[in-house]
Amino acid sequence: MNLLVTGGAGFIGNNFIRYWLNKYPKDKILNFDKLTYAGHISSTRDFSQNNNYEFIKGDVCDAKAVDEAVKKTDTIVHFAAESHVDRSILDPLVFVHTNVMGTQVLLEAAVKYKINRFHHVSTDEVFGELKLGTNKKFNETTQYDPKSPYSASKAASDHLVRAYGKTYSLPITISNCSNNYGPFQDPEKFIPRAVTNLIDGKSVPIYGDGKYTRDWLYVEDHVRAIETILTKGKAGETYLIGGLTEDINNLEVVRMILKILNINGSYIKYVKDRAAHDRRYAVDWRKIHSKLKWKPMYGFDTWLEKTVEWYKNNEWWWRPLKKKAEVFYRNTEK
Ligand code: NAD
Ligand code: DAU
Repeated sequence: MNLLVTGGAGFIGNNFIRYWLNKYPKDKILNFDKLTYAGHISSTRDFSQNNNYEFIKGDVCDAKAVDEAVKKTDTIVHFAAESHVDRSILDPLVFVHTNVMGTQVLLEAAVKYKINRFHHVSTDEVFGELKLGTNKKFNETTQYDPKSPYSASKAASDHLVRAYGKTYSLPITISNCSNNYGPFQDPEKFIPRAVTNLIDGKSVPIYGDGKYTRDWLYVEDHVRAIETILTKGKAGETYLIGGLTEDINNLEVVRMILKILNINGSYIKYVKDRAAHDRRYAVDWRKIHSKLKWKPMYGFDTWLEKTVEWYKNNEWWWRPLKKKAEVFYRNTEK
């Protein structure tokens, strides 16, 4: 395959590229990334010299640059997006630009060059929230009900991708996955923020009552799910991807990290809640399991331990980013 990966300097994108180059040494990957505040060239350091890898600094909203990149490839995996809910509350416009307009620009080029597969990486947040204390889960037929500018922009992008599949017969697939965690995640997101704060002996800021619940998915399990969809999935289909079978709330996540780090004490600091904070996400991933035989490789305990270990051993990567993330939060958590 000749893959165009958008957003490959971001968290999930760089994990995807590393995995793919190792597993498919004959395939070529073109990483097209704008290198926003969330794009880190340091995350691509270990594979940047691979002969089958090329990097282009570009914006998915720039039709000319996108055209040039798409014409060299046969498969698109579209990760590029503004991805942080808190930032979308402060500055929604860039989310509409990149997530909606950028996706449309990419879709146009994909139609023009008759791309074999356009895979769109989306989120479970498009479905809104579930109630605490229920067994309900999102599935492929759940109605869209986004609550933040981020999730609304991702919902719009999903609709566009489906519309291009129907109107122009573009062979699309979509995956809506839950919260990822693992190596190379920017310390602005919850798990790496908690881990790096605790490594530094600082408390973890907890929004609201901390009983918010996410369906944690290890990034490598997610990457394998995308691989499964690209190699075995059916064009036109949507697949939901999740990692857990039981609810674990944010307070419990912090307790587990404290245990892994062998720290006594609570180290929790309650801070102002996020506006329109979704209470609970839970994903029913039976479709991708039964149709394509994907499932997470290990449970949350094992992967969380591996993640904490990675942050302990890779300060060179996160230390410079941590400062920037905390400057952002200093202004929002007053
Ligand atoms: P990220 O914020 O870590 O990385 C985004 C990448 O996209 C960065 O490298 C950034 O430079 C690049 N980018 C942003 N705007 C761009 C533009 N206009 N043109 C080109 N590149 C641009 O994001 P992530 O966590 O890796 O998420 C990747 C995708 O997965 C996103 O589409 C996100 O919505 C989706 N997703 C993420 C999660 C999660 O938990 N992280 C869960 C579900 C879905
Ligand atoms: O569900 C998938 C989504 O997961 C992705 O689409 C998004 O791109 C990704 O950022 C993530 O969104 P969340 O808003 O769920 O992730 P975040 O890491 O920002 O927050 C996780 C939970 O932790 C949420 O309930 C808010 C809470 N939180 C977060 C931070 C950063 C805290 O309590 N304290 C914090 O400091």
